Amino acid sequence: MAKILSGKEVSARIKEELKQEVAALKEKGIFPGLAVVIVGDDPASRVYVNSKKKACEDLGIYSEEYALSAETTQEELLSLIDTLNHKKEINGILVQLPLPKHLDEESVIQAIDPKKDVDAFHPVNVGKIMVGNYDFVPCTPAGVMELIHESGIEVSGKECVVIGRSNIVGKPQAMLLLHENGTVTICHSRTKDLKETVKRADIVVAAVGKPNFITGDMIKEGAVVIDVGINRIAPKTLVGDVDFESASKVAGAITPVPGGVGPMTIAMLMKNTVKAALIQ
Ligand code: GUN
Repeated sequence: MAKILSGKEVSARIKEELKQEVAALKEKGIFPGLAVVIVGDDPASRVYVNSKKKACEDLGIYSEEYALSAETTQEELLSLIDTLNHKKEINGILVQLPLPKHLDEESVIQAIDPKKDVDAFHPVNVGKIMVGNYDFVPCTPAGVMELIHESGIEVSGKECVVIGRSNIVGKPQAMLLLHENGTVTICHSRTKDLKETVKRADIVVAAVGKPNFITGDMIKEGAVVIDVGINRIAPKTLVGDVDFESASKVAGAITPVPGGVGPMTIAMLMKNTVKAALIQ
């Protein structure tokens, strides 16, 4: 049976450290502040935004929420971002994705001041990650790296297989593993021999958004398996991209869903917000 990598426990430790850091910063007159923007009423996005606000409260970080109607225009959203870019109480701006279809996500991301881009989605920050000289790391891949370190595994020289090539997770995840000298493969919907490729991996990161897609027979004995997926298959049932039941019998270490990568993502967002306040 695999070791369980509890993002819940690790994130609680990180948040405790950040709480003390925030308190120390306030003594020096630095008050970290985060603006969270949500457009429309996607229930999953609402849950994530609530968790982000709650984390700010727990850590003593100032936060503002902008809940805009699903009919918000591109101009209105860009105008809000411009206001937040110039607002001195706000160090970090997060626009919850996905946006309603009529809005252009790319130009919205590009409108955020890169110094306030705590998601690290702006092309300037994406480029910095590519060259390995960055202030902000995207929250989910950063949380995954923390959990890998926590499992005591060296990335250097290891076969790392990332399943999924999104801008939010797959691509930056591959880059972070590469920076630590992993031998990295990215798999996606057109990959021919998915099973054979995943089976080679010492470290597997699944970020495809398909419930229970990666099964135990695809995992090498003793591998570290990180599950980024959060799939709601019934009103009260969340499962990952990895079939935990079968994979946990073969893996050396594995993250649960929920309680794995999810809480780590939020802890990393808080870390980026504190960093943003320091930079500014
Ligand atoms: N939607 C899913 N994950 C994320 C994230 O990390 N940041 C934002 N802004 N939206 C998301």
